[in-house]
Amino acid sequence: MPPRIITNAELETMVDTSDEWIVSRTGVHERHVADAMVFTSDLAIEAARNAIENASMSPEDIELIVVATLTADMHTPSVACIVQSALGFSKNTMAFDINAACSGFIYAITIANQFLQNGVYKTALVIGAETMSKVTDWEDRNTCVLFGDGAGAVVLKAAETEDGILLTSAGCDGIAGIKSLTIPGLKVSDEEAKKRENRNLCTIRMDGGEVFKYAVRMMSEQITTIIEKAGLKLEDVKLIIPHQANARILEAIAHRIQVDKSVIFFNVSHSGNTSAASVPLALQAAVQADRIHKDDYIILVGLGGGITWGAVLIKWA
Ligand code: UT7
Repeated sequence: MPPRIITNAELETMVDTSDEWIVSRTGVHERHVADAMVFTSDLAIEAARNAIENASMSPEDIELIVVATLTADMHTPSVACIVQSALGFSKNTMAFDINAACSGFIYAITIANQFLQNGVYKTALVIGAETMSKVTDWEDRNTCVLFGDGAGAVVLKAAETEDGILLTSAGCDGIAGIKSLTIPGLKVSDEEAKKRENRNLCTIRMDGGEVFKYAVRMMSEQITTIIEKAGLKLEDVKLIIPHQANARILEAIAHRIQVDKSVIFFNVSHSGNTSAASVPLALQAAVQADRIHKDDYIILVGLGGGITWGAVLIKWA
């Protein structure tokens, strides 16, 4: 995450809000925000470098780069291409971005996993990276208290073992969810312009209550379904790492699927909602906190704009 921190106290000076409201409704105490000239690719490059180093590999070992983001520096080249250009990857590396909003990292893992399983590639770099601060309307208290910037990355390697990524699942409900979380791009409909009342049109607007209900329902469903498909039981799962949008969503999931809160990893307090970066940032935090060990079953699960959702079941190698 970039070094600059915006605390709830600082937000109190910007919009009509309070630390008490933000903490009790979201669990967020602070979020990291990139400087004006720092973009998603800058954070993605740093995360990529760290992941490759941690995997004791070098950029030329990587055959595929998938970046999940909804805040790419440019429409083209993709963030993945900018990463490819920065760290000495081979020219044979396939590199592209995907946008599934806050489910992006789960979708990106799902895609990369297919390339590894079908034998096309042996190594893939999957990055979730966002500068949400650049699409935030800092005058809209409904959203500006929620989001933050960051990037996380993993290196995936094909292996003929019984562990690693066991199952993935993903879905989308564009019919019901297409209007509940939006950031206009080239097209700004009258309806979207109206929501932004002559302010910056390319900023995020969310029907928070609607998305909240979706998040609890769909992430809970994804968790129970993927466990069932794998022939496992909830008690077999050591840690669930969900998209970090709101601590209350995570508490509601624990209540709904009836697991102790300690099985769910909470990381939102110091990061805010970093969209596609939130799951890899939380995964990294969980590893650092020694919450994941060899042979543990863990689940990554997310929900985001679209509405999109997905889950990944891993037996930690
Ligand atoms: O990342 C993709 C997925 N995203 C999510 O999963 C986010 C899902 N949604 C949420 O996390 C929550 O719905 C929010 C945190 C966005 C909002 O929490 P809420 O408990 O649903 O609050 P609300 O929208 O029902 O608003 C309650 C009140 C409203 O006032 P009135 O109309 O009751 O007078 C808001 O105007 O709180 C007011 N409010 C605020 N007050 C102080 C909204 N934002 C703020 C604020 N400070 N920052």
